[in-house]
Amino acid sequence: MASEGKHLVGVDIGSSSIKVCEIEEKRGKRSLVRFGYHPLPPETIVDGHIINSSAVVEGLEKLFHKAKRRNVALRASGHSVIIKKISMPLMSSAELDEQVGWEAEHHIPFDLAEVHVDYQVLGRREDESQMDVLLVAAKKEEISDLTNLAMEARLKPTVVDLDAFTIQNVHEVGYGVPQNNETVVLIHVGASLSTVNILANGTTAFTRDIANGGHSITEEIQRTLGISREEAEAYKCGGDGRGIVPKEVPEIINQVVDQLAGEIQRSLDFYLATSGDQTITKIFCSGGTANVQALLKSIQDRARIPVELLDPLTVAQPDTKRVDPVSLQGRTAQLAVAMGLALRKERERN
Ligand SMILES: Nc1ncnc2c1ncn2[C@@H]1O[C@H](COP(=O)(O)OP(=O)(O)OP(=O)(O)O)[C@@H](O)[C@H]1O
Ligand SMILES: [Mg+2]
Repeated sequence: MASEGKHLVGVDIGSSSIKVCEIEEKRGKRSLVRFGYHPLPPETIVDGHIINSSAVVEGLEKLFHKAKRRNVALRASGHSVIIKKISMPLMSSAELDEQVGWEAEHHIPFDLAEVHVDYQVLGRREDESQMDVLLVAAKKEEISDLTNLAMEARLKPTVVDLDAFTIQNVHEVGYGVPQNNETVVLIHVGASLSTVNILANGTTAFTRDIANGGHSITEEIQRTLGISREEAEAYKCGGDGRGIVPKEVPEIINQVVDQLAGEIQRSLDFYLATSGDQTITKIFCSGGTANVQALLKSIQDRARIPVELLDPLTVAQPDTKRVDPVSLQGRTAQLAVAMGLALRKERERN
């Protein structure tokens, strides 16, 4: 991806909180010069739909109070987007531009008048005269709802991207493009959505969204113990400040996490069974729920591959004059998407 100009400000509007990252580049060195975090009230975003838009606008206004840079890259929820990997006969990019609409018609179960279709050539298989193309279709209405909301907070939305691709960007920049014989799995687990992105030979070979995340752990603790959401959330995250956690909590966490890890493993099994790929080399986890050790362990036990936390700070280290390292404590796993968005620039050619 060729890009120039200044970095956009990354704005990740998730169902539990808004995360903002801003990167500056000086003499080829990137630094994180701003980090913002704003929790959202429950039910602000449900099933990927922004229900309480004023809570989001208020949050954005707070996070951008007095901010000079307002050109932003936004994260769109996976609920409003369909991603499909398809095979097409080899052709030039001009031909592909013409053909891709026809192909989308076959592969995208939405009315084409209602979606933006974008694509990326993943690889050319000259010997078979075929090429692999990634089709991305986003519902226009949901994308414009999102950008309108940002504009209401006096932001200038320039780019809209998805969790899977922003995390891929973080991995590529922070850890390097995977080698040709490597298969790397990037798993992002937020509060209500999880995304699996499998990279083979450096490009996406498989992606899947799973409508499950850390919120279901909180809900289960809340339901079983008959306590408030805030208490359940505190127990999940390690205690009530005095380190006291009811003995049932680890058991509940294990139970919910096991289900989620099972769904993730089904995606990995499906990929291995259908791709002809034999082994997965590495698994990285990000998102707030990657802080749950039991989840990493459960994924690792099933896949029998070490699971590593994806560290978004490999992309840009905080400039300590402008970002208080304390504000990042316990939040690094959560800022991966915003960091990936902040890598995007004002002028890009995909
Ligand atoms: N230390 C921790 N231990 C356990 N869970 C944690 C911890 N820190 C954060 N979480 C959980 O991570 C989730 C928030 O993560 P994240 O910010 O990635 O989600 P989101 O972007 O708001 O949601 P989504 O993208 O799924 O809509 C919450 O469910 C929160 O409880
Ligand atoms: Mg998220």
